[in-house]
Amino acid sequence: EKAGYEHFMLKEIHEQPTSIQNTFAGKLSELEGNVTLEEIYLKPDEVKRLRRATIIACGTSWNAGILGKYLFEKLAGLHTDVETASEFRYSNPVLCGEELTIAITQSGETADTLAAVRSSASYGCRSIAITNVVGSTITRESDSVLYTRAGPEIGVAATKTFTAQLMALYMLAINLGRTRGVISANEAKDLIVGIKKLPGQIQKVLSRKEEINECAVQFADKRDYFFIGRYLNYPVALEGALKLKEISYIHAEGYAAGELKHGPLALITDETPVVAIATKGHTYEKILSNIKEVKARDATVIAVADDDDTEIDKYVDVVIRVPPTHELLSPVLSSVTLQLLSYYTAHAKGCSIDKPRNLAKSVTVE
Ligand code: M6R
Repeated sequence: EKAGYEHFMLKEIHEQPTSIQNTFAGKLSELEGNVTLEEIYLKPDEVKRLRRATIIACGTSWNAGILGKYLFEKLAGLHTDVETASEFRYSNPVLCGEELTIAITQSGETADTLAAVRSSASYGCRSIAITNVVGSTITRESDSVLYTRAGPEIGVAATKTFTAQLMALYMLAINLGRTRGVISANEAKDLIVGIKKLPGQIQKVLSRKEEINECAVQFADKRDYFFIGRYLNYPVALEGALKLKEISYIHAEGYAAGELKHGPLALITDETPVVAIATKGHTYEKILSNIKEVKARDATVIAVADDDDTEIDKYVDVVIRVPPTHELLSPVLSSVTLQLLSYYTAHAKGCSIDKPRNLAKSVTVE
């Protein structure tokens, strides 16, 4: 059932060109510049009146939520908070009726996420669940369900379900943004054209796995790793670090690159590989400065950068390339490169990739 792959994780990484296509199949209208989400039971009036969204999730799904926040704010003008479910459930949230709760949970069974959604429902908030599992508990706890349709994921490490969650968030942000009149049909169209190209571009990333493997092997004996990114690349950094620690047992920190000088820079030495997600966008120059900061502390820098970026080579030690895409969409491609980096690092170390120690696929206890 691994279809010739050594591990489910590798198989699932390779399924992403198809799995994301399944997420958006039948929903994108390039002509109208809109995304049709018939499964969301919110009237246009209610969507216009929304004052805030609260995303509730754990782990990888929480990382997806950070990207969701940036997308909802940029494309739909909707103030968005991202809450860790285990914290939210014991806090005293200030919520009112004209707010939307979005639960992101691949399994639909994470105990903390379920409890947090129940608590937000008690304030009268409308809710949407983004999940991969049809009929899971979260689907009964939410008003609307947006399925990610990535297919079953066996590896404990979330890979194809993560990129499917990102796709669901892009679609929801475009849909809300069009209804709220924040983005034009043409802006939505540009995004839709970009989304449709992603499966082919992921294929291109996958075809470069040997280079990524070489890079992984080179640093597999390191004790600590840093992943840094800014804005949309910040959640990519968080997810890159989570994946690496989960399956390779290397200590990894994901950081908003601008935060480095507020503490963690003290940890950077010539023994610390730093992965900088440096795809083109309005924070590109800023991440270059952060790269210079860590280079000045002798770190080895691995950059994830666009194919046509010729400048980056001057500043870093290794470049992992991704095809250029719409600025908002690059997290999908960068995330696939980092999944491969973690996979090959864990592989080089002989770790139990599909079943990492101490972890379970779905966390149904508190
Ligand atoms: O099923 P969920 O999306 O609610 O799971 C949340 C986390 O337990 C999960 O994303 C976990 O962090 C992943 N195994 C990481 O790869």
